[in-house]
Amino acid sequence: MKILSIALGGCICARPQYGITQDTGGHIAYVLGEMAALARRSDVASAEIVTRLFDDPLLGPIHSQPCEQIAPKLSITRINSGDTRYLAKEALETDRAAFTQALIKDLSGRCTLPDIIHAHFADAAEVADEIRRVLGIPFVYTAHSLGLDKAATMTGIDDALRRRIDQEAAAIANAAAVIGSSRDECERQLVAYPGAQIGKIHRITPGTHRLLRDHTTKAEALIAPFLREPGRPIVLAIARPVWKKNLAALIDAFGGDAQLRNMANLVIVAGQRGQSEESDGEHGDVFREMLERIDRHDLYGSIAYPKRHDEEDIAGLYQLAAASRGAFVNPALIEPYGLTIVEAASYGVPVVATRNGGTVDTVSELAHGVLIDPRSPREIAGAVRHLLTDNAYWDRCAANGAKNARSHTWAAYAAQFVKIASHLTAPAIARAPALVRAEPPRHLLACDLDNTLTGCADGVASFRAMLERRPDITFVIATGRSLVEARRIMRQWDLPDPAVWITDVGTRIYWPTSGVPVRDETYLRDVSDEWRPAVIRSAAAPIAGLSLQPHYDQNAFKCSWFFKDPASVQMLRRSLDVAGYRARVIASHGHLLDVLPSQAGKGAAVLHVASRLGIPRPRIIAAGDSGNDIDMLRVAAHPVIVANHSSELAHWSSEHRGHCAKRAHAHGVVEGTEAYLLRLGGPVAPASAWTSSDAGPKEIAA
Ligand code: GLC
Ligand code: MG
Repeated sequence: MKILSIALGGCICARPQYGITQDTGGHIAYVLGEMAALARRSDVASAEIVTRLFDDPLLGPIHSQPCEQIAPKLSITRINSGDTRYLAKEALETDRAAFTQALIKDLSGRCTLPDIIHAHFADAAEVADEIRRVLGIPFVYTAHSLGLDKAATMTGIDDALRRRIDQEAAAIANAAAVIGSSRDECERQLVAYPGAQIGKIHRITPGTHRLLRDHTTKAEALIAPFLREPGRPIVLAIARPVWKKNLAALIDAFGGDAQLRNMANLVIVAGQRGQSEESDGEHGDVFREMLERIDRHDLYGSIAYPKRHDEEDIAGLYQLAAASRGAFVNPALIEPYGLTIVEAASYGVPVVATRNGGTVDTVSELAHGVLIDPRSPREIAGAVRHLLTDNAYWDRCAANGAKNARSHTWAAYAAQFVKIASHLTAPAIARAPALVRAEPPRHLLACDLDNTLTGCADGVASFRAMLERRPDITFVIATGRSLVEARRIMRQWDLPDPAVWITDVGTRIYWPTSGVPVRDETYLRDVSDEWRPAVIRSAAAPIAGLSLQPHYDQNAFKCSWFFKDPASVQMLRRSLDVAGYRARVIASHGHLLDVLPSQAGKGAAVLHVASRLGIPRPRIIAAGDSGNDIDMLRVAAHPVIVANHSSELAHWSSEHRGHCAKRAHAHGVVEGTEAYLLRLGGPVAPASAWTSSDAGPKEIAA
């Protein structure tokens, strides 16, 4: 596979000493990290980064070099649009058409074209979309930061932002796939755009780049001139000097907290200063505001704001923050992902992070700190003080971060990217869900995902082999997770594509249509009138020990909480009973609670799917491991309970029929399914008797 990546703003080159004279933002590290990891894979023939060629002695001669080979199979191509000046992000717009034409001309002259293009930011997506129209190459889009959310933090939207939002909407609508970093970005920010399709949105966790050598001496030298007592714990922030990053609130938080300013130093790295164009405009304004706040709080001697930095300084500052038992703070008004939060984790630095945006899932996954309201300096200061004064808490956060960030590698990112890209570039016939067969008799196998199919790679291989042997089995996934998360986990475990996705604890169903999962609007259509989530939330509000799951785990037919004590679940059940309210209350894994309409759930969804596929109930097999699988196991003619089931299924064998597998995870699913097929007996039609079909639900139901 040949991959071409387009990124327009900033200074992109292999040598960091050239990349740092401008404030370039995190996306350049992303593009280089991603493409370097892709180039190292044997299934990638080339990874080529395309950007603008410009000639500016201040920024280094490398940017006027048309081709820079960085490593085997990894290169940067610089396209000359005819205007060889360095152009800042806003001025790039006028150059776009010429750049696009020059790139198309370059590509047209090649013997082989790239298979897929990865466009970074909406401006690059506009270029990629034109290439798609002219040369037919599909493109993947990564937004990095979205205008709609930025608009929400501002009082008025100017023309430039409106134009950017339109551009993003077009990119989201026309891309073959959209890649986001966090659940918030994928499941809230991106889907807010008209034309967004959840079935085209994928989440891949970006990698981080951690320098292993000790750079603390270099970092100490960088901040020493600013500080009276350089040995104090370091409260560190690294962000571009833009309003959205809300750095002034951090200065207010630090300056306004007597205890904090007496025990720690604040270090703020806000881009590079010294370029003429940066003293004007937003960067300059933000910096001047910072200085004004520093002065107001009289923070001289306990705050450092170095003018310049390189990659080693940044590594050294993280290392110093860890060694001094400090903290990293991201007070942004909105943060799409928060790469620095993961970087801090990898260096073992606990964090205090904004509760707006992707940081919600990052901090909950890495468990290395706390979320705060970025508009409250008091809350920020309180959270930092807590970290710096509670030693056991600090140790726990530091250890969690270092351990949990280990899986955030660019190699893991590249593996996921290649899977998505191969799907997009494969011929249509291969993309069709191979498991929807045209003719009966068929069997429907509905499987839960977590701990049922996942948990044992060897079991997954055996499961795949069984599906290949038995083309008469239609495999359906039935999970508590959202579609985006289910697909991410399925890619990670190398699970086959299902014929149908039942997600969100059986409150959503998606059918593949031309390779893209599309929501079944007929399912739960009749529920709306009597289902009143507000009633359920107010019944739950007074119950101690229930805390709401994040916003992306709630939907119109699913209210979800975490619980600590099973007694709180009983209390909610009772209080709904007393109110005469009928709802399905499901506890799973001893800490997850879902309340759904009584007509919803994995069981209801499986029956809906079976009826649309024309598969009779006696031919339904269902496999699961926990509480949210119970209703599905009940409706199945052939329930399979894997050996590693959780406590909610402990009494299944004494109360119900079904196959309680001796084996765990996917091996257990295979064991139970084969036992059922064996009991059924009879000849199995040869594979050739079944034709693959991409039919959506309507065709199948006919
Ligand atoms: C998944 C969902 C969560 C739900 C749980 C149990 O983890 O994300 O919202 O509570 O499954 O059904
Ligand atoms: Mg499970």
